[in-house]
Amino acid sequence: MRHLISIADLSNADITEILDIAADIKEKRRKGKITDLLKNKSLGMIFEKASTRTRVSFEVGMNDLGGNAIYLNSNDIQIGRGETVEDTAKVISSYLHAIIARVYDHETVVKLAGNSKVPVINALSDEEHPTQILADLLTIREYKNRISNLKFVWVGDGNNVCNSLILACAIVGMEMVAACPKGYEPDEKYIRKARELGGVITVTQDIKEAAKDADILYTDVWVSMGDEDEAEQRIKDLSDYQINKSLLDIAKPDVIVMHCLPAHREMEITAEVIDGPSSVVFEQAENRLHAHKAILLFLLDQKEEE
Ligand code: CP
Ligand code: NVA
Repeated sequence: MRHLISIADLSNADITEILDIAADIKEKRRKGKITDLLKNKSLGMIFEKASTRTRVSFEVGMNDLGGNAIYLNSNDIQIGRGETVEDTAKVISSYLHAIIARVYDHETVVKLAGNSKVPVINALSDEEHPTQILADLLTIREYKNRISNLKFVWVGDGNNVCNSLILACAIVGMEMVAACPKGYEPDEKYIRKARELGGVITVTQDIKEAAKDADILYTDVWVSMGDEDEAEQRIKDLSDYQINKSLLDIAKPDVIVMHCLPAHREMEITAEVIDGPSSVVFEQAENRLHAHKAILLFLLDQKEEE
């Protein structure tokens, strides 16, 4: 049995397999073909934080595959009243076939996995966002016909999404440059791990130098969920780290612009860019659905083989 807690739980071959499954089921859905490979299976979805894309796409994905998804707001289950994560995992994993969890503290999803009889998927923690990254890679492959030998440039806060992208770039063989202001660099632990995996990663404060010859420009909110108390300071500190038209002009002419969403126009990205021709953000968001189905099929098939 395998979990997906960090994107680094997957090898390059695993990622290729998941992207191939995703592309296949995306095509089947377009043609109206029904794939009920998860018939009679149930997914539990624990959410400590808000979500639009992750929640809806996992729930619809499970339904599309003939299964059933149960939304578990952490305030509505006993975990919100102090039942331990360990006991919760032991109990609900005896009912469910897989669990996704969006948590504040990364350790919570690690603990869930450590006590679960079924695969646990990190649906975003303060450290990583692996399901997002698989949809991102699917999108990059669709636009660039490959996911290696590209220059991937992150702009802004070196946050949870950035950490997972740093690892992903190392695994698939993409050069990664993270342009972040002082104090907002990605966690050193992730940079070290990416380098151990053979990744070529540069962290710089020079956003213009970073954007040179970029194939992909990617950004995310300046204030992540859980960082609201620092909002005012963050907006000040990150104000120069915006994807706008003048940054786009430095990148390759066929650069694609990505954002995991939700977006704040005129903060981390201008409306002109996110709603312009280089932006692939809505295809990227749609690909959450296909990627999530592929993750479920990949992890549950693994389990069935054992
Ligand atoms: N990108 C992403 O995870 O979106 P949600 O917070 O809406 O799930
Ligand atoms: N970095 C953001 C991503 C939201 C999908 C957050 O953690 O809030």
